[in-house]
Amino acid sequence: MADLTVETVTDAVRAQMEATPDIRLREVMDAAVRHLHAFAREVKLTPEEWLMGIAFMTEVGKSCTPSRQETILLSDTLGLSALVNLMADRHHGHDATDSSLLGPFYRENSPMLALGDCIATAPRSALVVFQGQVKDSAGRGIPHAAIEVWQTDAHGSYDMQIHGEAKMDHRARFVADAQGLFHFRTERPLAYNIPMDGPVGRMVRAQGRHGCRPAHIHFLIGAAGYRELVTALYLGDDNYIDSDVVFGVSEALVIMPTADAASPFPDLPAIRYDFALARASGEAASRVGADPSTLVQANA
Ligand code: BEZ
Ligand code: FE
Repeated sequence: MADLTVETVTDAVRAQMEATPDIRLREVMDAAVRHLHAFAREVKLTPEEWLMGIAFMTEVGKSCTPSRQETILLSDTLGLSALVNLMADRHHGHDATDSSLLGPFYRENSPMLALGDCIATAPRSALVVFQGQVKDSAGRGIPHAAIEVWQTDAHGSYDMQIHGEAKMDHRARFVADAQGLFHFRTERPLAYNIPMDGPVGRMVRAQGRHGCRPAHIHFLIGAAGYRELVTALYLGDDNYIDSDVVFGVSEALVIMPTADAASPFPDLPAIRYDFALARASGEAASRVGADPSTLVQANA
Protein backbone atom coordinates (compact mmCIF):
# COMPACT_ATOMS: atom_id res chain seq x y z
CA MET A 1 0.00 0.00 0.00
CA ALA A 2 1.42 3.39 -1.05
CA ASP A 3 1.46 6.23 1.48
CA LEU A 4 -0.94 9.04 0.63
CA THR A 5 0.65 12.40 -0.06
CA VAL A 6 -0.61 15.92 -0.79
CA GLU A 7 -0.13 15.03 -4.45
CA THR A 8 -1.75 11.56 -4.52
CA VAL A 9 -4.73 11.77 -2.14
CA THR A 10 -7.04 13.32 -4.76
CA ASP A 11 -6.57 10.45 -7.23
CA ALA A 12 -7.02 7.91 -4.41
CA VAL A 13 -10.46 9.36 -3.63
CA ARG A 14 -11.39 9.53 -7.33
CA ALA A 15 -10.37 5.89 -7.83
CA GLN A 16 -12.57 4.77 -4.93
CA MET A 17 -15.58 6.62 -6.42
CA GLU A 18 -15.00 5.34 -9.94
CA ALA A 19 -17.49 2.48 -9.61
CA THR A 20 -20.43 4.82 -8.88
CA PRO A 21 -23.21 3.28 -11.00
CA ASP A 22 -25.05 6.57 -11.67
CA ILE A 23 -22.99 8.20 -14.43
CA ARG A 24 -24.06 11.78 -13.68
CA LEU A 25 -23.41 11.34 -9.94
CA ARG A 26 -19.96 10.00 -10.79
CA GLU A 27 -19.22 12.98 -13.07
CA VAL A 28 -20.44 15.57 -10.54
CA MET A 29 -18.64 14.03 -7.53
CA ASP A 30 -15.41 13.52 -9.44
CA ALA A 31 -15.33 17.20 -10.41
CA ALA A 32 -16.38 18.27 -6.90
CA VAL A 33 -13.50 16.33 -5.30
CA ARG A 34 -10.95 17.60 -7.84
CA HIS A 35 -11.98 21.23 -7.34
CA LEU A 36 -12.35 21.00 -3.55
CA HIS A 37 -8.90 19.48 -3.21
CA ALA A 38 -7.43 22.05 -5.59
CA PHE A 39 -9.00 24.82 -3.50
CA ALA A 40 -7.56 23.40 -0.25
CA ARG A 41 -4.12 23.08 -1.86
CA GLU A 42 -4.26 26.59 -3.38
CA VAL A 43 -5.07 28.39 -0.11
CA LYS A 44 -3.04 25.90 2.00
CA LEU A 45 -6.13 25.34 4.15
CA THR A 46 -5.24 24.76 7.82
CA PRO A 47 -7.16 22.41 10.18
CA GLU A 48 -8.36 25.43 12.23
CA GLU A 49 -9.70 27.12 9.11
CA TRP A 50 -11.46 24.01 7.86
CA LEU A 51 -13.05 23.49 11.30
CA MET A 52 -14.29 27.11 11.10
CA GLY A 53 -15.74 26.35 7.66
CA ILE A 54 -17.44 23.22 8.98
CA ALA A 55 -18.88 25.15 11.96
CA PHE A 56 -20.15 27.83 9.52
CA MET A 57 -21.88 25.29 7.27
CA THR A 58 -23.36 23.53 10.31
CA GLU A 59 -24.80 26.86 11.47
CA VAL A 60 -26.17 27.54 7.97
CA GLY A 61 -28.02 24.20 8.11
CA LYS A 62 -29.31 24.77 11.63
CA SER A 63 -30.63 28.22 10.65
CA CYS A 64 -33.08 26.68 8.19
CA THR A 65 -36.70 26.64 9.33
CA PRO A 66 -39.99 26.11 7.46
CA SER A 67 -39.90 29.81 6.54
CA ARG A 68 -36.16 30.38 6.12
CA GLN A 69 -33.71 28.73 3.72
CA GLU A 70 -30.23 29.88 4.75
CA THR A 71 -28.51 27.39 2.40
CA ILE A 72 -30.17 28.93 -0.67
CA LEU A 73 -29.21 32.35 0.69
CA LEU A 74 -25.59 31.16 0.85
CA SER A 75 -25.81 29.90 -2.74
CA ASP A 76 -27.37 33.25 -3.76
CA THR A 77 -24.71 35.42 -2.10
CA LEU A 78 -21.92 33.32 -3.64
CA GLY A 79 -23.42 33.86 -7.10
CA LEU A 80 -23.92 30.12 -7.53
CA SER A 81 -27.72 30.34 -7.91
CA ALA A 82 -27.24 33.00 -10.60
CA LEU A 83 -24.63 30.89 -12.42
CA VAL A 84 -26.81 27.75 -12.40
CA ASN A 85 -29.86 29.70 -13.56
CA LEU A 86 -27.87 31.47 -16.32
CA MET A 87 -26.64 28.11 -17.61
CA ALA A 88 -30.21 26.76 -17.59
CA ASP A 89 -31.45 29.85 -19.48
CA ARG A 90 -28.71 29.43 -22.08
CA HIS A 91 -29.69 25.78 -22.47
CA HIS A 92 -33.27 26.85 -23.24
CA GLY A 93 -32.28 29.34 -25.93
CA HIS A 94 -32.26 33.12 -26.11
CA ASP A 95 -35.86 33.74 -27.10
CA ALA A 96 -37.30 33.67 -23.59
CA THR A 97 -37.12 36.47 -21.02
CA ASP A 98 -34.11 36.15 -18.68
CA SER A 99 -34.90 34.46 -15.40
CA SER A 100 -33.97 35.90 -12.02
CA LEU A 101 -33.97 34.61 -8.45
CA LEU A 102 -37.20 33.47 -6.86
CA GLY A 103 -35.96 34.62 -3.43
CA PRO A 104 -37.29 33.67 -0.01
CA PHE A 105 -40.39 35.88 -0.03
CA TYR A 106 -42.53 33.99 -2.54
CA ARG A 107 -45.83 32.74 -1.10
CA GLU A 108 -48.39 30.50 -2.70
CA ASN A 109 -52.09 31.39 -2.88
CA SER A 110 -51.73 35.15 -3.00
CA PRO A 111 -54.97 37.09 -3.63
CA MET A 112 -56.50 36.65 -7.10
CA LEU A 113 -57.15 40.20 -8.37
CA ALA A 114 -58.86 41.64 -11.44
CA LEU A 115 -56.80 43.33 -14.17
CA GLY A 116 -56.14 46.96 -13.18
CA ASP A 117 -56.46 46.33 -9.42
CA CYS A 118 -53.85 47.66 -6.98
CA ILE A 119 -51.68 45.05 -5.24
CA ALA A 120 -51.00 47.35 -2.26
CA THR A 121 -53.89 46.95 0.18
CA ALA A 122 -53.39 50.43 1.74
CA PRO A 123 -50.95 52.40 -0.40
CA ARG A 124 -48.97 55.07 1.42
CA SER A 125 -47.02 56.40 -1.55
CA ALA A 126 -47.65 57.39 -5.18
CA LEU A 127 -48.86 54.59 -7.45
CA VAL A 128 -47.47 53.37 -10.76
CA VAL A 129 -49.23 51.26 -13.37
CA PHE A 130 -47.58 48.14 -14.73
CA GLN A 131 -48.60 46.92 -18.19
CA GLY A 132 -47.34 43.77 -19.81
CA GLN A 133 -48.01 41.07 -22.34
CA VAL A 134 -47.10 37.39 -22.06
CA LYS A 135 -45.89 36.12 -25.45
CA ASP A 136 -44.42 33.05 -27.05
CA SER A 137 -40.96 33.16 -28.61
CA ALA A 138 -42.50 34.23 -31.96
CA GLY A 139 -44.11 37.27 -30.31
CA ARG A 140 -47.68 35.94 -30.27
CA GLY A 141 -49.72 36.71 -27.13
CA ILE A 142 -50.38 33.67 -24.91
CA PRO A 143 -54.07 33.77 -23.96
CA HIS A 144 -54.96 33.66 -20.26
CA ALA A 145 -51.40 33.18 -18.96
CA ALA A 146 -51.19 33.03 -15.16
CA ILE A 147 -49.14 35.78 -13.51
CA GLU A 148 -47.98 35.98 -9.91
CA VAL A 149 -46.39 39.19 -8.72
CA TRP A 150 -44.80 40.17 -5.38
CA GLN A 151 -42.62 43.00 -4.13
CA THR A 152 -41.71 45.06 -1.06
CA ASP A 153 -43.75 48.02 0.10
CA ALA A 154 -42.45 51.55 -0.50
CA HIS A 155 -40.22 51.21 2.61
CA GLY A 156 -38.43 48.04 1.49
CA SER A 157 -40.32 45.44 3.57
CA TYR A 158 -42.13 42.33 2.38
CA ASP A 159 -45.51 41.62 3.98
CA MET A 160 -44.15 38.60 5.90
CA GLN A 161 -41.43 40.76 7.50
CA ILE A 162 -44.17 42.98 8.95
CA HIS A 163 -47.17 40.70 9.45
CA GLY A 164 -45.65 37.20 9.48
CA GLU A 165 -48.14 34.74 8.00
CA ALA A 166 -51.10 36.86 9.13
CA LYS A 167 -51.59 39.09 6.10
CA MET A 168 -50.71 39.18 2.41
CA ASP A 169 -49.88 42.56 0.89
CA HIS A 170 -48.02 43.80 -2.21
CA ARG A 171 -48.58 40.45 -3.91
CA ALA A 172 -51.30 39.06 -6.16
CA ARG A 173 -52.23 36.67 -8.93
CA PHE A 174 -53.70 37.75 -12.26
CA VAL A 175 -54.94 36.01 -15.38
CA ALA A 176 -54.00 37.73 -18.64
CA ASP A 177 -56.71 38.45 -21.20
CA ALA A 178 -57.20 36.61 -24.52
CA GLN A 179 -54.19 38.47 -26.02
CA GLY A 180 -51.93 37.73 -23.04
CA LEU A 181 -52.23 41.36 -21.88
CA PHE A 182 -52.37 42.31 -18.22
CA HIS A 183 -51.97 45.39 -16.06
CA PHE A 184 -52.10 46.29 -12.39
CA ARG A 185 -51.29 49.20 -10.11
CA THR A 186 -48.73 49.18 -7.33
CA GLU A 187 -46.40 51.30 -5.22
CA ARG A 188 -42.76 51.65 -6.21
CA PRO A 189 -40.80 48.99 -4.30
CA LEU A 190 -37.65 49.96 -2.41
CA ALA A 191 -34.19 48.36 -2.08
CA TYR A 192 -33.76 46.14 0.95
CA ASN A 193 -31.26 44.00 2.85
CA ILE A 194 -31.33 40.26 2.44
CA PRO A 195 -31.85 38.57 5.85
CA MET A 196 -28.62 39.60 7.67
CA ASP A 197 -29.29 38.14 11.13
CA GLY A 198 -27.83 34.69 10.40
CA PRO A 199 -24.47 33.17 9.40
CA VAL A 200 -24.79 34.32 5.78
CA GLY A 201 -25.34 37.92 6.92
CA ARG A 202 -22.24 37.58 9.13
CA MET A 203 -20.24 36.37 6.11
CA VAL A 204 -21.51 39.24 3.92
CA ARG A 205 -20.61 41.82 6.61
CA ALA A 206 -17.16 40.25 7.12
CA GLN A 207 -16.57 40.76 3.39
CA GLY A 208 -17.45 44.47 3.64
CA ARG A 209 -20.48 44.02 1.34
CA HIS A 210 -23.62 46.13 1.76
CA GLY A 211 -26.03 43.17 1.69
CA CYS A 212 -28.67 45.02 -0.39
CA ARG A 213 -30.81 44.14 -3.36
CA PRO A 214 -31.93 46.92 -5.72
CA ALA A 215 -35.68 47.64 -5.77
CA HIS A 216 -37.51 45.06 -7.85
CA ILE A 217 -40.82 43.40 -8.66
CA HIS A 218 -40.92 39.59 -8.81
CA PHE A 219 -42.92 37.66 -11.42
CA LEU A 220 -43.78 34.00 -11.79
CA ILE A 221 -45.52 33.43 -15.10
CA GLY A 222 -46.95 30.20 -16.44
CA ALA A 223 -49.12 28.82 -19.22
CA ALA A 224 -49.86 25.26 -20.32
CA GLY A 225 -47.15 23.98 -22.67
CA TYR A 226 -44.58 26.65 -21.69
CA ARG A 227 -41.60 26.65 -19.35
CA GLU A 228 -42.50 28.49 -16.15
CA LEU A 229 -40.73 31.86 -16.02
CA VAL A 230 -39.38 33.06 -12.67
CA THR A 231 -38.00 36.53 -13.03
CA ALA A 232 -37.87 40.03 -11.57
CA LEU A 233 -37.69 43.54 -12.97
CA TYR A 234 -35.30 46.05 -11.41
CA LEU A 235 -35.69 49.83 -11.11
CA GLY A 236 -32.89 51.43 -13.12
CA ASP A 237 -32.38 54.43 -10.83
CA ASP A 238 -31.68 52.34 -7.73
CA ASN A 239 -28.34 52.93 -5.96
CA TYR A 240 -27.67 49.18 -5.85
CA ILE A 241 -28.52 48.40 -9.48
CA ASP A 242 -24.87 47.50 -10.25
CA SER A 243 -24.05 45.71 -6.99
CA ASP A 244 -26.95 43.35 -6.17
CA VAL A 245 -25.74 41.14 -3.30
CA VAL A 246 -27.30 38.06 -4.95
CA PHE A 247 -26.38 38.85 -8.60
CA GLY A 248 -29.96 38.74 -9.92
CA VAL A 249 -29.87 41.79 -12.23
CA SER A 250 -29.30 41.61 -15.97
CA GLU A 251 -29.51 44.56 -18.37
CA ALA A 252 -32.64 43.19 -20.04
CA LEU A 253 -34.52 43.17 -16.72
CA VAL A 254 -34.01 46.86 -15.89
CA ILE A 255 -37.09 49.11 -16.10
CA MET A 256 -38.03 52.74 -15.44
CA PRO A 257 -41.52 54.22 -14.99
CA THR A 258 -42.33 56.88 -17.61
CA ALA A 259 -45.34 59.03 -18.55
CA ASP A 260 -47.77 57.16 -20.82
CA ALA A 261 -50.90 59.00 -21.93
CA ALA A 262 -52.19 55.82 -23.61
CA SER A 263 -52.11 53.71 -20.44
CA PRO A 264 -55.36 52.71 -18.74
CA PHE A 265 -54.31 55.04 -15.89
CA PRO A 266 -52.86 57.98 -17.87
CA ASP A 267 -52.19 60.07 -14.76
CA LEU A 268 -49.82 57.48 -13.28
CA PRO A 269 -46.21 56.78 -14.27
CA ALA A 270 -46.26 53.59 -16.31
CA ILE A 271 -43.94 50.61 -16.61
CA ARG A 272 -44.29 48.57 -19.81
CA TYR A 273 -42.64 45.17 -20.12
CA ASP A 274 -43.45 42.12 -22.23
CA PHE A 275 -42.46 38.62 -21.15
CA ALA A 276 -41.54 35.80 -23.54
CA LEU A 277 -42.00 32.18 -22.47
CA ALA A 278 -40.03 29.24 -23.89
CA ARG A 279 -41.82 26.04 -24.87
CA ALA A 280 -41.80 23.38 -22.10
CA SER A 281 -39.21 20.69 -22.68
CA GLY A 282 -40.26 18.23 -20.01
CA GLU A 283 -37.42 18.58 -17.50
CA ALA A 284 -38.21 18.79 -13.78
CA ALA A 285 -36.89 21.74 -11.74
CA SER A 286 -35.93 24.65 -13.96
CA ARG A 287 -34.41 27.00 -11.40
CA VAL A 288 -32.68 27.35 -8.06
CA GLY A 289 -34.91 28.64 -5.30
CA ALA A 290 -38.22 27.35 -4.13
CA ASP A 291 -40.78 27.75 -1.44
CA PRO A 292 -38.55 27.19 1.65
CA SER A 293 -41.15 25.16 3.53
CA THR A 294 -41.40 22.71 0.60
CA LEU A 295 -37.63 22.29 0.64
CA VAL A 296 -37.39 21.80 4.38
CA GLN A 297 -40.23 19.25 4.32
CA ALA A 298 -38.65 17.42 1.38
CA ASN A 299 -35.38 17.12 3.30
CA ALA A 300 -36.92 16.20 6.67
C1 BEZ B 1 -35.35 38.53 -2.93
O1 BEZ B 1 -35.44 38.95 -4.05
O2 BEZ B 1 -36.25 38.79 -2.18
C2 BEZ B 1 -34.14 37.74 -2.50
C3 BEZ B 1 -33.53 36.91 -3.41
C4 BEZ B 1 -32.44 36.16 -3.00
C5 BEZ B 1 -31.99 36.22 -1.70
C6 BEZ B 1 -32.62 37.06 -0.79
C7 BEZ B 1 -33.71 37.83 -1.19
FE1 FE C 1 -37.17 40.25 -3.67
